[in-house]
Amino acid sequence: FVLNTIHCKCIVNIKRLKRESDIMRYSNLAGAEILKDYQTFAQMIKFRQTEAKKSVIIKISEISHIEHLKKFCEYYAKIVNVFPYNTIDNNRFVLMECNSNKDVEALREIAVCKADPEYAHCVTPFFLYKPRLKLYTNQNTVYKDNYGYHSNFGTPNLNKINQSLKKIQSVSNQMIFLYDTLRITELNTRLRFYTATQISYYLSQLFINLSVVPFGSSVNGFGQIGCDLDLLCKTNISSNDTAGWKKFLFMTQVVPLTDRIEQKHFLDLIGTIIKTCMPGITDVKKILEARVPIIKFRNLSTNMQCDLSSTDMTALHMSELLYLYGQLDWRVKPLVFTIRKWARSMNLTKENPGQWITNFSLTLLILFYLQTKHILPSLTSMKIFSNKSNTIDNFDWFLKWKNSVSNNDESLSKLLCEFFEYYCFFDFKTHALCLRDGITKLKRDASPLYIYNPFNPSLNVSKNVTISELLRLVGHFQRALQIMLNSTEQDTLVKLINFDSNSTINNEFNKKNKSVSISEKFIPNVTDTNNLQKIEKNIIK
Ligand code: GTP
Ligand code: MG
Repeated sequence: FVLNTIHCKCIVNIKRLKRESDIMRYSNLAGAEILKDYQTFAQMIKFRQTEAKKSVIIKISEISHIEHLKKFCEYYAKIVNVFPYNTIDNNRFVLMECNSNKDVEALREIAVCKADPEYAHCVTPFFLYKPRLKLYTNQNTVYKDNYGYHSNFGTPNLNKINQSLKKIQSVSNQMIFLYDTLRITELNTRLRFYTATQISYYLSQLFINLSVVPFGSSVNGFGQIGCDLDLLCKTNISSNDTAGWKKFLFMTQVVPLTDRIEQKHFLDLIGTIIKTCMPGITDVKKILEARVPIIKFRNLSTNMQCDLSSTDMTALHMSELLYLYGQLDWRVKPLVFTIRKWARSMNLTKENPGQWITNFSLTLLILFYLQTKHILPSLTSMKIFSNKSNTIDNFDWFLKWKNSVSNNDESLSKLLCEFFEYYCFFDFKTHALCLRDGITKLKRDASPLYIYNPFNPSLNVSKNVTISELLRLVGHFQRALQIMLNSTEQDTLVKLINFDSNSTINNEFNKKNKSVSISEKFIPNVTDTNNLQKIEKNIIK
């Protein structure tokens, strides 16, 4: 066997290679741990991190090698899950979950670097598996069936989605279908945590109190296939425990960095380490002058596009809040997925941040709207983010709310339509959204779109959105509302998520939208009010 490690791509040997017949005898599969129904954010993170630490990634050249590889590994370790997948550049890998860390160690043991046997213990497990014997050929389909071979790194094909949507009768069911199709898969979640754990492992070899955790849509329940992996560098000591520790020295502790300049320097250093020392990482870019300084890079074996930052813990608390909201009512996620998909198709949100609304701010718009419908509670009424650390400690409250009978049982379709309507007529000129209290409040400054930061009311989450982008957004809310009111159930979602320039509604919209269509009453600095009145009349009609 020839194995490559991720670290140096050198040739390694496998110790104690057994005959195939021996290997076949050791094929006991242990039962995989099952993720419980209700988990706090902290429990979920811990569960996934533990799972990642018990996993290895193995590179294979042929899909037909999987069965043989599994049997071989089972001789040395208890394997509980096998996930074959390929990356966008068509490399084939297997994510293999072992029963315990000891099993991972056992697999590391069998890969010994020729040049330096000690070296193998330091590397994150990642092998290239090439059996010399040609075993199990011509059985590709069997492997596909057994293991569900994954190649889902690109976003699902829009044509296929459209075809499926057309076969589903009700808009509500179409929204549930969209959610099921677009959300991150089990394998993808595992690869995200694996990536974070791997980077955490390397950095912790240099900074003993540093760990890297995923946040954002990878963990908040609103992640779509292909979304970026947001990573946070976290120091594991309290902010007042700084005495005596020198910063930025190998094998030392890093004090929590509160100062922006310090954060930038620290990220600069981390970026250099990632670029020069970490195997399997490519396209490293330091973006240190942005509002939130980040290091961008791609992990080759997991095919993850990563954004590493070192801000305070607010981003993690924000992920926890969104995670909780997503769990409170079954309608939240399908609604958010549908609106996010719609916004992306309309080019209202974009891959890179800029003057337009982000997925995050858009999600807050949706959650606020659901607060006004009494489907979701305000933060203050939850009383669970009141402790100093901002983390949820009252899980009983969560279960109570979830199990309480909601007065609002509106369908997904109705909620979607009313969402568009709500923001078509929202007074953006003077009012801001406050999710903390679940009510609108006066704006604190002239920002076109004002969403109070739930954890820091002195900040506006959507400060980046310009007036023209807000006008475009509201214009599209109006267009979406028109579609919802004028289309048959079967056509609605297809029309919403496809900007089909041939459709009558879109032609109308394009013509009208040449000068932006929203009332001066609601939006500042708009000159063409005639246009708005026409559209408003249409909507009311
Ligand atoms: P995707 O577009 O799927 O990546 O959604 P996302 O929720 O991951 O958004 P993004 O990658 O832009 O940001 C990652 C996380 O950073 C968000 O989930 C928030 O927790 C946080 N975040 C993003 N923008 C802001 C902001 O303007 N203010 C604050 N306080 N946090 C933000
Ligand atoms: Mg993200």
